[in-house]
Amino acid sequence: MVTVRAPATSANLGSGFDVFGVALDRPADIVRVSKAEQTTITVTGVGSQFIPEDPARNTVGAVAEELDAPAHIEINKGVRPASGLGSSAASAAGAAVALNELYDRGLSRSELVPIAAEGEAVVSGAPHADNVAPSILGGFTIATADGVRSIETDIPLVACLPEIAVSTRDARRVVPDTASIPDLVTTVGNAATLTTGMCRSDPVLVGKGMDDPLITPARAELITGYDTVRSYALETGATGVTVSGAGPSVIAACHGGDRRAIGSAMLDGFSENGVDARVYQVSVG
Ligand code: HSE
Repeated sequence: MVTVRAPATSANLGSGFDVFGVALDRPADIVRVSKAEQTTITVTGVGSQFIPEDPARNTVGAVAEELDAPAHIEINKGVRPASGLGSSAASAAGAAVALNELYDRGLSRSELVPIAAEGEAVVSGAPHADNVAPSILGGFTIATADGVRSIETDIPLVACLPEIAVSTRDARRVVPDTASIPDLVTTVGNAATLTTGMCRSDPVLVGKGMDDPLITPARAELITGYDTVRSYALETGATGVTVSGAGPSVIAACHGGDRRAIGSAMLDGFSENGVDARVYQVSVG
């Protein structure tokens, strides 16, 4: 039997749609695997009632298939489904790491990333690695078609999860088909700024680099209260605010001493719009 803790993640970070991701030190899924003739799945924990246990419809079923590693897989959810905090990715990442060890497949952590991404495709319809990469490798990750780069960093973050659900499939439907050259130029500049900030553990540069004129405005419309929450966080000292993953979580970069006040301001922003929420004061894991 092998047990793995797979952390929540925040993908995109505004300017890095389907490319950037960051591991959060909490919450996390616990994935436990044991060898079996056929793959079976049991799910407990936060939001487990919404997660199918049929291996054909669960991210970890695809991972077991990719690794040719049938197993009984127990998932204890700490990351709420449809939260924008990489819930399905945490389970897929945990299963990939655990099954690789259980069956002694000898794959490196980097080699496990595309395998876990196949699991993500079951849920979102497209195999993107920006959540599974940081869940497996930790730190800040840059996932491109030719592989994944990871960078250790130290950036204080506040994630605010409202009591609303946004499915990744729905949030991908609102992504525009085209972009203007000026918006692309802005986004490339912001992505470069954010990457520099991650390399230097500089929350001001990371926050500036989160701005995104391409994808985030369309997705923000799916999140009741987003504009209020963003304004309140910025007024309270956040260096940048954006949608976490496909939403509905909102994530802020900041200086460490401001986390509590920013979390409180974000809760107020949702509350004024009639939405309950919870806050995670986190670091890059
Ligand atoms: N990059 C993905 C998206 C992350 O924003 O759709 C969510 O799975």
